[in-house]
Amino acid sequence: MAPESVAVPELEKGVGCDIDSSLLASDGFSEERIARAKALLGSRVVILGHHYQRDEVVKFADFRGDSLKLCQQAAGTRAEYIVFCGVHFMAESADVLRQAHQVVVLPDLAAGCSMADMAEIGQVETCWEELRFAGASGVIPITYMNSSAAIKAFVGRHGGSVCTSSNAARVMRWAFARGERVLFLPDEHLGRNTGWQLGLPLDQMAVWDPSRECGGHDEATLARAKVILWKGYCSVHQRFQPEQVDAVRRRTPGIRVIVHPECRFEVVRKSDQAGSTDGIIRAVREAKPGTAWAIGTEIHLVNRLAHEHPEQTIVSLDPHVCVCTTMFRISPQHLAWALENLAEGHVVNRIQVDDEARRWARLALETMLALP
Ligand code: 13P
Ligand code: SF4
Repeated sequence: MAPESVAVPELEKGVGCDIDSSLLASDGFSEERIARAKALLGSRVVILGHHYQRDEVVKFADFRGDSLKLCQQAAGTRAEYIVFCGVHFMAESADVLRQAHQVVVLPDLAAGCSMADMAEIGQVETCWEELRFAGASGVIPITYMNSSAAIKAFVGRHGGSVCTSSNAARVMRWAFARGERVLFLPDEHLGRNTGWQLGLPLDQMAVWDPSRECGGHDEATLARAKVILWKGYCSVHQRFQPEQVDAVRRRTPGIRVIVHPECRFEVVRKSDQAGSTDGIIRAVREAKPGTAWAIGTEIHLVNRLAHEHPEQTIVSLDPHVCVCTTMFRISPQHLAWALENLAEGHVVNRIQVDDEARRWARLALETMLALP
């Protein structure tokens, strides 16, 4: 069966895409500049490309993967410079896990993550205090990899752990073995999907709205809650709707629906499978040839899978296409500029977490990595 790939459309102003259009196009000149600077730097540089990165950038990556794997791979090299073609929290995580001689560079500092930006450290500290005053005892904080280093450090300081989208259930189980309840940051949906996977009913999970006093709850609700879900979400994955699952099943009977667990609970419940980026890739790779898939995640990964697996039929679950517009900011031009500067001995756009935060954030990451 021929693969059905979805074109990334012209990005429009007004739909959350404020990208300078001059940065969108790939051009041969930038590609030549990247290749030249990369060759000059040789093994002194390692380029990391997240699965959601655009093709014209990812083709220069030495490693392609999810953010944790990329950080670990970079820290395992002897390269001086780690150029992260991803978003800000990923570069921060690379800085937390790097070796002492390494420097991390993010080619465009405006490449942030809408979800990570939804939990600010001041808000989280207020939440922690308010939970204490409300008598919600035994709280273990967990933060998703997609959070700032300051939030990871907060979690490390308070005896918690980081989690990824593939090990969230394991980390939550670990937390319940040592406390009465979990504060799950910053993704409401991953937290709810994970709590449900562990058998918790929805009424034992309360959403903490940082814009409201005591998160919008009374003491009785907080005392009952086993999981307190931070009101944060991914603007890309929250777009997927349960009706889209129904529609694609009507259009293609027998199609398998697989979504990222950052999608809403109702979408995950209607799907056949939920998985991290690596989990989605594995599922497609291991499926019988001729399997039809509707995939609910960022479009660059969906299109790449369609291209790399012509033996499967692959469509995006959202017909209107979901782009991570901030990841998209890392253009070939930005990458060329960053590499050329490094080749000339100038470190540009360095991402550096301060020593104190690094220490605690590393502890929170190591707690997760030490779990059996
Ligand atoms: P993974 O950890 O599954 O790669 O997801 C990263 C991400 O940013 C999802 O939105
Ligand atoms: Fe952040 Fe969503 Fe982009 Fe992932 S897809 S980096 S969670 S905005």
